[in-house]
Amino acid sequence: MNVCKRNKKLLNMSGLFICLSFMMTFLLASCGQKVTIESYAIIPQPVEVTMEKGGFTLSNSTTCYGANVGQNDPTIKYISRVLRQWHLNPVLVGKPETNCIQFVINDQYDNQLADDGYTIDITKDNIVIAANSEQGLFYGFQTFAQMLPEDISETRYSKIFLTACHIKDYPRFNWRGSHLDVSRHFFGVTQIKKHLDLMAMYKYNKFHWHLTDDHGWRIEISKYPLLNDVGSWRVNRDDQPWGEASPAMPNEARTNGGYYTKEEIKEIIDYAAERYIDVIPEIEIPGHCCAILEAYPQLACEGDDTTYTVQFGPYWPPRAILCAGNDSVLTFLKDVLDEIIPLFPNKYIHIGGDEAVKDNWKRCQRCQKRIKDLGLKNEEELQGWLIVEIEKYVKRQEKSIIGWDEILDGEVSTDATVMAWQGTNRGRIAAKRGNDVIMTPTEFCYFNFYQANAEFQPPAMPNSLITMHKVYEYDPMPDGLTAKQGAHILGAQCNLWTEYINTPEMAEYMLLPRMCAMSEVLWSAKSAKNWAQFRKKMARHTVRLKANDYTVGTGSFRPWKKTEKQSDGTLLVTLDWEIEGMHVYYSVDGSGYVRYTKPFTMSPKSKITTLSFMNSILKEKEYEL
Ligand code: ACM
Ligand code: ZN
Repeated sequence: MNVCKRNKKLLNMSGLFICLSFMMTFLLASCGQKVTIESYAIIPQPVEVTMEKGGFTLSNSTTCYGANVGQNDPTIKYISRVLRQWHLNPVLVGKPETNCIQFVINDQYDNQLADDGYTIDITKDNIVIAANSEQGLFYGFQTFAQMLPEDISETRYSKIFLTACHIKDYPRFNWRGSHLDVSRHFFGVTQIKKHLDLMAMYKYNKFHWHLTDDHGWRIEISKYPLLNDVGSWRVNRDDQPWGEASPAMPNEARTNGGYYTKEEIKEIIDYAAERYIDVIPEIEIPGHCCAILEAYPQLACEGDDTTYTVQFGPYWPPRAILCAGNDSVLTFLKDVLDEIIPLFPNKYIHIGGDEAVKDNWKRCQRCQKRIKDLGLKNEEELQGWLIVEIEKYVKRQEKSIIGWDEILDGEVSTDATVMAWQGTNRGRIAAKRGNDVIMTPTEFCYFNFYQANAEFQPPAMPNSLITMHKVYEYDPMPDGLTAKQGAHILGAQCNLWTEYINTPEMAEYMLLPRMCAMSEVLWSAKSAKNWAQFRKKMARHTVRLKANDYTVGTGSFRPWKKTEKQSDGTLLVTLDWEIEGMHVYYSVDGSGYVRYTKPFTMSPKSKITTLSFMNSILKEKEYEL
């Protein structure tokens, strides 16, 4: 991550290394720090980590060599850039000896590692990071970065002793996604890059960019300039809660918003590609389209006399819908896709499809005529028809659609990928039908939900709660699928809707630490996951993330219990919690509070209440488990 810490004052150091190495050695020897790293806190947990005796001492005399790679290969250039930020030598190509970090593309393809796996071997002589591809090297390097001190970019370590080990690693799922809604609140290029750095650090590889919605259109479209001149801006109500914002005043300036130019989109796609992240744009149809309808009201249904405006705050149910009976709507959508498709090199275009309230279609003569002419049963089938029309158009350009799971309600082809958000069963149904599926059920994957007791948190989605532990326990593979059906589950993703999130810091607060937990769900082998170990690792990652300028949420201070019936009829109660270093006191049936140190027994009828403290500060009030 390292990578994401843009430490400007140190950028020129690579030149100094080359020209003044003697003087540097003297300086490091005289004022550098030494550090010994005995155990590693790697997130996501690799498939295999074997600790060994002895270790390697990394210093500024350590060289870095690549084998079967070129110095100008993109990943080698990336690695060299980061090594320089750490005051280490960049990667050279040649024959390494000892005291060296080697970046090796394997001579023979290792099927188990496939394209994105890697090995790391640390011995007393060398560190070897090996993979079948540059992508595998990239992931190996991300792991290696987590083996170094968290302040490596800032502190000049004279020597870093790394305990010998062997690591073998490859991912469980191919789709390791992070979604970001930039419509409800707009985040600029710098913030998006920082988010991509975070994704890379935890080996996420799909950035789902929610670019259009009722609250702002965020991508430049040359043929329809009003999408940007009108649809990308609204009056500013960031000082008011999302659910209670006052309406816009007549002629009030629209100062909140923005959009990405095509140049900026390309810049972000390139930045993501360097980190092996595909960028998937989402263009919402047929609902969530206030921004379109304010800019181009002629695309609304006949008889719909609503004045749509891009505004702050909810409008529920979201009645804005494009008229499916109007051929101009199809022309508009195809024109927009014609500008979007060439920009995004990955194979998917997300076309939304969720939460389209069809009241206007019921009243609209054009929509009703379309239903009649096509012999459709109802408005649901009309949405199905529209999605299929768009799917056919996207396919003709050798792309595939992704849609929220409402697309299952129509006759969408099995080539479409379904994003299952309305519960695990929607994913199961889609996989049985033969569609590829990305699991993102609300109850585990919506990181705009509170992460802890709302009483102690900044405002988030009302009446919601998804703790880090809940995320950690999630398994994206629905039960009841055959192996063939299970192969359609591509993976999962966390979604960040930004109604309540109006700063990049708040976005990070909501993403972290849950994104770390999700990375083990997505990447780590089931057998490698271990909650107790993860909790400890997370304490160290919190320090690492903060050292790299990320805002980390609190996690939840509420403990939970597990009970086991004993042969004498009592219950053996084990308490657990998310935060390393937290102290939990419990009381059984109102008896005095005692500090929890080990499992205890009680009658099955008894009630337990708890209090949580961190550094002697009460963090969670009395709570009945
Ligand atoms: C969604 O949360 N409406 C996909
Ligand atoms: Zn209509």
